[in-house]
Amino acid sequence: MRAKQQRLYINIDHVATLRQARRGAEPDPVEAAIACEAAGADGITAHLREDRRHIQDADIQGLKNKVRTYFNLEMACVAEMLELACRIKPEQVTLVPERREEITTEGGLDIISEPSRIRSAIKALTDAGIRVSLFIDPTRAAVEQSKKLGVPAIELHTGTYSHRPDSEKTIGALRESSRRGADLGLAVHAGHGLTVKNVGPVAAIPEIEELNIGHSIISRAVFIGLDRAVKEMREAMLAARSS
Ligand code: PXP
Repeated sequence: MRAKQQRLYINIDHVATLRQARRGAEPDPVEAAIACEAAGADGITAHLREDRRHIQDADIQGLKNKVRTYFNLEMACVAEMLELACRIKPEQVTLVPERREEITTEGGLDIISEPSRIRSAIKALTDAGIRVSLFIDPTRAAVEQSKKLGVPAIELHTGTYSHRPDSEKTIGALRESSRRGADLGLAVHAGHGLTVKNVGPVAAIPEIEELNIGHSIISRAVFIGLDRAVKEMREAMLAARSS
């Protein structure tokens, strides 16, 4: 299969983490989003958590107003977030699991044991004109269940891979799930824990159309600036696709 052009969406949550450390106005994640777009990002991702530990409601409205590329809102499948998404209407919502005590999203959505809750969320978002993606573990069962739930897209959780990037098993699960997703007609996205060092094998998977990357790019930006950090990631992705 010929690899399609792969999109890079930057997750700007951790710009807000820094701002919330002082509960002030800086640094502004909306300004960061504009800088990422100027550096060549194809889209902007933000996760409005129920505990509001980083991104705030006003940021979501600001991103909706200012993002010129594509706005992907990550959120839990709960009434409060569904109401907000249907009102603000980002282009895409990625449904993610959320636990208050976790440091970051730790695993894919449980779409097998709670399908009716997810199905009604998908319907509400789709009826509002929003494209829906499900953040799932890279397993055949989760990919096939996503297809049954009727979403156009899935995002494969790369967290396990990012902890063990040299394992054939972790990259193999991503390759197989991507292939199965594409065979079923799903758009395949991926993300979590990706860095310039480990992105190569994931970026090289031909079926993966979109990568969502945040923490490592914002961390690098502290040393080399956001513009170079975004470009550095793009170069690593392109190098993996052309080799
Ligand atoms: N994709 C999803 C669904 C996520 O929840 C996150 C983290 O918020 C990311 C991608 C980005 O992960 P990281 O910040 O580790 O690059």
